Amino acid sequence: MTSPILIAPSILAADFANLGEEVRAICEGGADWVHVDIMDGHFVPNISFGPIVLNAIRPVTDKVMDVHLMISPVDIYVDDFAKAGADTITIHAEAGPHAHRTLQKIKALGKKAGIVLNPATPASVVDPLLDDIDIILVMTVNPGFGGQKFITTMEPKIAQLRAMIGNRNIDLEIDGGVTVETAPICARAGANVLVAGSAVFKGDDYAANIKAIREAAEQAANAR
Ligand code: DX5
Ligand code: ZN
Repeated sequence: MTSPILIAPSILAADFANLGEEVRAICEGGADWVHVDIMDGHFVPNISFGPIVLNAIRPVTDKVMDVHLMISPVDIYVDDFAKAGADTITIHAEAGPHAHRTLQKIKALGKKAGIVLNPATPASVVDPLLDDIDIILVMTVNPGFGGQKFITTMEPKIAQLRAMIGNRNIDLEIDGGVTVETAPICARAGANVLVAGSAVFKGDDYAANIKAIREAAEQAANAR
């Protein structure tokens, strides 16, 4: 059975002067998860925002707040993001030596825990973690900025991870350069959650953008 494709618009591409309205618009427009990119200017060469902003948008929707932490160190901030309203917290495998410890901490806070792989990180790093995670997030750009080009050579890694997941209940999420054109590559390889920033927050019909990405992905998933 093919699991449905979930669309997670990244609010990094939203109009920050109207953030609450932007979150409402994507949620009313069919977003499944709200993807929240946290950057520290240290692990990645850009700074976004912290828990106070997550806390401000939390009352806007009951949908899943999918918090992608591009920060190092990470452990000391996990509590803050859980309290601010995260439903999922994903951490980078490259962010420090203690990914397993951090994942345990996230689970102990009652949140879904995920591991993120940069483009240069092999699928094999998640092997020892497979029974302890809810999400694997594959970066299809180098993290730090929205609007970059999808790295197509990530396709075999996505397929490899889908095979490694087997019948475990783990979401396989893709982040970076996802558009109507690249969503089918992800879905064909076995991804079931697609993050999209610039491809959703363009023009003024976010619902149509979300629908187009979802339909392109579902078509490819069904043809698998
Ligand atoms: C990149 C972020 C992504 C980014 C996606 O570091 O993790 O979530 O905002 O933006 P697009 O879809 O524009 O590549
Ligand atoms: Zn992200």
